[in-house]
Amino acid sequence: MNKQELQAAVDKRRTFAIISHPDAGKTTITEQLLLFGGVIREAGTVKAKKSGHFAKSDWMAIEQQRGISVTSSVMQFDYQGKRINILDTPGHEDFSEDTYRTLMAVDAAVMVIDSAKGIEAQTKKLFKVVKQRGIPIFTFMNKLDRDGREPLDLIAELEELLGIEGYAMNWPMGMGKGLLGLYDRRAKQVELYRENEAGERFLPLDADGKLDPSEPISQESIYRDTLDDIALLNDAGNQFDLKKVMQGDQTPVFFGSALTNFGVETFLKNFVAMAPAPSEHVLEDGRKLSPVDPNFSGFVFKIQANMNPNHRDRIAFVRIGAGEFERGMDVTLTRTGKVMRLNNSTEFMANSRETVESAVAGDIVGLYDTGNFQIGDSIFAGKEPVEYAKLPQFTPELFMRVTAKNVMKQKSFHKGMQQLVQEGAIQLYRTYSTDDYILGAVGQLQFEVFKFRMQNEYNSEVVMTPIGSRIARWIDETQLDEKMSSSRNLLVKDLAGAPLFLFENQYAMRWFQDKYPDVRLTAKL
Ligand code: G4P
Repeated sequence: MNKQELQAAVDKRRTFAIISHPDAGKTTITEQLLLFGGVIREAGTVKAKKSGHFAKSDWMAIEQQRGISVTSSVMQFDYQGKRINILDTPGHEDFSEDTYRTLMAVDAAVMVIDSAKGIEAQTKKLFKVVKQRGIPIFTFMNKLDRDGREPLDLIAELEELLGIEGYAMNWPMGMGKGLLGLYDRRAKQVELYRENEAGERFLPLDADGKLDPSEPISQESIYRDTLDDIALLNDAGNQFDLKKVMQGDQTPVFFGSALTNFGVETFLKNFVAMAPAPSEHVLEDGRKLSPVDPNFSGFVFKIQANMNPNHRDRIAFVRIGAGEFERGMDVTLTRTGKVMRLNNSTEFMANSRETVESAVAGDIVGLYDTGNFQIGDSIFAGKEPVEYAKLPQFTPELFMRVTAKNVMKQKSFHKGMQQLVQEGAIQLYRTYSTDDYILGAVGQLQFEVFKFRMQNEYNSEVVMTPIGSRIARWIDETQLDEKMSSSRNLLVKDLAGAPLFLFENQYAMRWFQDKYPDVRLTAKL
């Protein structure tokens, strides 16, 4: 690819993830997007994968047992001249650090909210990570075919709970059984929920934002309420501000119903038009790297092991930050300086694994790995070494004590533990007093995967004793006094030797802060 071709290819890329609370409708909406992209022909394909009936699946054994996807995958399709990459963020019981790390590899996020429930816990956590990156966040208020909360409340909640301005791009005309359609403020039209007799789906609005009086609107009162809401939004609501949107300070809000495929394509069209193409990446030394830099480089944001139990392979997911990836190219692993040839690459589609021939900045490639890569690693093809900024650490919330079941097998226990921790599969801490091993995770499944892999890959059976959920807070080593530790705030050190307390609950943490007002407690992301 020459320079212009690379620029054109990068400009086409739209790489994003969906953040939501379980059951808000992420799977359903993803499926609709894949339908529009022509990746799947029938609704039900993605859901079938989720429920374990997916014929072509070759996911790791634990995934098959549970019928859920353990780690995120990537779906790619073309829509209106753009190449869309959707990075899946595991959300149910499979919520893990991978979910967070995936958000480091996207250029935008889509937040799906159940309009009957509003903003829920997991959405809040994921939002925090995305917000910190300062990337655009688009909101889809789902399940409009059911009675939900007042749309004005939902918009207000964005600001109250998340601290982001909401700008309603369209507005529901009724809800549940009374859903008439969507009032599109920007395209100046009404999108009917069901086509009218003439089969029209879109009705134009006049300069005053009103429908032609001759249009048959089944429920006048709903239409009048909509006009009242729109007047209120125009007068007292937020002004649309693209600059704020791009910085993640304002979120364009779209309403719809993923299940009945209403408002989803409108959302997709607007998203594709507004979402950014890949932009510069900040490197560890503070320099900025252009996505159209001619030399290929990228970073590993996830390593998935044993996707195919027959092959015991691992796949390192690389987000391309700059240049073009070509099969068979030589790259250098920045951390070790080792040069390797990238012969075996895969790309993940919704329902098949295809070998990638070439990909550019914004795309994700999966590289077969025999143990070379670690999460956060950079690879580059040019002469100049490239090191992407380190991935942030996340604060684990769940903890377990772990020991080897068979004391004679300490060696494989330590080896497995060391490798899995290095890979970023789980966090490891040691207690100060007794040097016990404590594992930390953001989701329960990380423990299960850990146990499974210790057994299967390192032949080490482990015993895990739950400590439960804890609030982890780091403190400055100079302020540490081991006497500060009690049963309610377990003192441990992380891999780097930095001390932290695992507080039993908020109450224990406040008690500690009252007792030691000078000690500064800090969290990771
Ligand atoms: P998730 O991936 O975010 O966890 O959510 P998912 O899409 O699986 O949706 C969760 C439930 O909500 C599903 O129902 C799904 O059919 C339903 N749903 C999604 N979008 C809409 C919508 O726009 N309107 C309505 N009314 N429901 C919606 P389920 O009964 O749990 O699963 P299923 O039996 O339908 O598969």
